[in-house]
Amino acid sequence: MAPFDALKVAPMKTSELIRPSPTDVPAYMHDVYDWAYLNPRNVRLLDREIVVELILWGNGHRLKEALLTEIDPGATVLQAAHVYGTLITEIAAKLTHSNQLEVVEVAPVQAGRCREKLRDFPEAIVRLGDAATVRTTPKDMVSSFFLLHEVPSDYKRAVVNTLLGHVKEGGKAVFVDYHQPHWLHPLKPLMMVIFDLFEPFAKELCQHTISDYADDPDAFLWHTETYFGGLYQKTVAIRRSDAG
Ligand SMILES: C[S@@+](CC[C@H](N)C(=O)[O-])C[C@H]1O[C@@H](n2cnc3c(N)ncnc32)[C@H](O)[C@@H]1O
Repeated sequence: MAPFDALKVAPMKTSELIRPSPTDVPAYMHDVYDWAYLNPRNVRLLDREIVVELILWGNGHRLKEALLTEIDPGATVLQAAHVYGTLITEIAAKLTHSNQLEVVEVAPVQAGRCREKLRDFPEAIVRLGDAATVRTTPKDMVSSFFLLHEVPSDYKRAVVNTLLGHVKEGGKAVFVDYHQPHWLHPLKPLMMVIFDLFEPFAKELCQHTISDYADDPDAFLWHTETYFGGLYQKTVAIRRSDAG
């Protein structure tokens, strides 16, 4: 990707975002998610809290809270990707100072929305880049909210390892995403159809633990909590100290 330019929120307008060429947006975004994340008219329609709640069967608030509760106000945070609704500003609001937050987002239109949402947090950084390859300073926390199920298998591995690579000693990575629902979950058959139609990379996530994607899982202490009959998970990976 061309430059991983850090974009301070306040001084630039959306139109001033540094735009990569279309090839810099991964192929799966064009092939699968154009309608959801790239088409500007749809993006305006979909970027609402009610949409997130509907997609998550009314669990949006609870799942956001599961992520927000992991944030220490003094922490530096790398958030992988923009998220529709209010989560991004809620993360910023939990932090003592806006310069503690950095977001990396691959689609220019999404990065623009993210910067607009963060206009009251002038020193938050929105970086136009790929969570699978982003380079940045070590962070106390890295977070991913429903990103992993949307990316192909090789990307899952790259995103997980890149994010884990940015966690400081004693810091953590927090992944909130889909999980294998209980076999008797009443929504399981419908979710499988939804995954087949709209989320072709989601089933694979449900068949693995997130630690399966880590090259060095033993460097972290892993803990998973599930929600809503197992359909959702929060997995926290805390980096062990070198001393063990
Ligand atoms: C994090 S997911 C969140 C999905 C969720 N349904 C929501 O409520 O928004 C969607 C975002 O991830 C972004 N994205 C997809 N692949 C990415 C990647 N490799 N690096 C950074 N951002 C990515 C998309 O452009 C989109 O803005």
